[in-house]
Amino acid sequence: MVETSDQWIVDRTGIRQRHIAPPEMATSDMAVEAAKIALEARGIPATDLHAIIVCTVTPDMMFPSTACLVQDRIGAKGAFGFDLVAACSGFVYGLTTAAHLVASGEPKKVLVIGADTMSRILNYEDRSTCILFGDGAGAFLVETAEEGQEGFIDYLNEIDGSGGDALKMPAGGSRLPASHETVDQKLHCVHQEGNHVFKYAVSKMAETSRLLLERNGLSVEDIDLFVPHQANRRIILAVAERLGIPLEKVLINIHEYGNTTAATIPLATRDAVAQGRLKNGDLVVFAAVGAGYTVGANLWRWRF
Ligand code: UT7
Repeated sequence: MVETSDQWIVDRTGIRQRHIAPPEMATSDMAVEAAKIALEARGIPATDLHAIIVCTVTPDMMFPSTACLVQDRIGAKGAFGFDLVAACSGFVYGLTTAAHLVASGEPKKVLVIGADTMSRILNYEDRSTCILFGDGAGAFLVETAEEGQEGFIDYLNEIDGSGGDALKMPAGGSRLPASHETVDQKLHCVHQEGNHVFKYAVSKMAETSRLLLERNGLSVEDIDLFVPHQANRRIILAVAERLGIPLEKVLINIHEYGNTTAATIPLATRDAVAQGRLKNGDLVVFAAVGAGYTVGANLWRWRF
């Protein structure tokens, strides 16, 4: 489709394979599967959920929200929910939001789902973006900690809208509704100034994670695992170097999935748990930078 090579993609991004949803599968379908797996792992019915947050930039449609579609399909009667649009930082913001909902009173359970079908918004004539993104979904259940146990510790999230032009899907909203022209000009696809995003991602992911640790009196030695958003292997390596964190403590799985936007962090965490790299009681930092710009880092004591 474009002039590229496996060598270029592997060298410049670290991506070896991606998963692409079949045509009949939309974001809510993947989100429902992720939700069911999470509920089953915890052994609770969907009716126990207080809220469902679906972090996505590729909802099935603008409205109803994907959260409503998921709520109905899994039978989470009585839950409320909404979609959270923060691109690659979506899941980190979802975790922050869920933690605060859970902390706000009665014991609660909030399901946070990161799900994106990026293949639907790629321009397969643009080699700088069409080789990067994949489809996927993952979910965390956030619930009230047991008496005396630590869970969510702190967060440092920030948006910088001055970077909005560097990564966007220009059409399909109220500014540029769908028309023949917007379709012809591929304005319903991802547009990215890769270099700009790359530099911003390295400096902000490192700075935010470092500040988050510092203000909690922690250093990278205290952290058991660093789970960064998976946009480019070179970004992750540069962030790790700036933080001075050894690669044994950094989860990298971009070679298997590409950049799945809001799904990278739950997919990476799932792999970390499966590989025995994240265990009950471990201290973990989740960090991301995405379109907006959006920036976020969360510090958690992992419980599972
Ligand atoms: O999820 C959050 C948002 N996204 C990101 O964090 C992504 C951030 N950016 C990146 O990961 C990288 O900037 C890219 C992977 C998008 C691009 O890598 P790069 O090393 O920054 O390449 P570049 O844009 O500086 O381009 C270098 C060259 C150019 O050719 P010339 O002008 O030097 O002749 C590009 O045209 O590589 C060319 N190029 C390609 N060549 C082969 C760009 N894409 C490709 C390609 N195959 N797929």
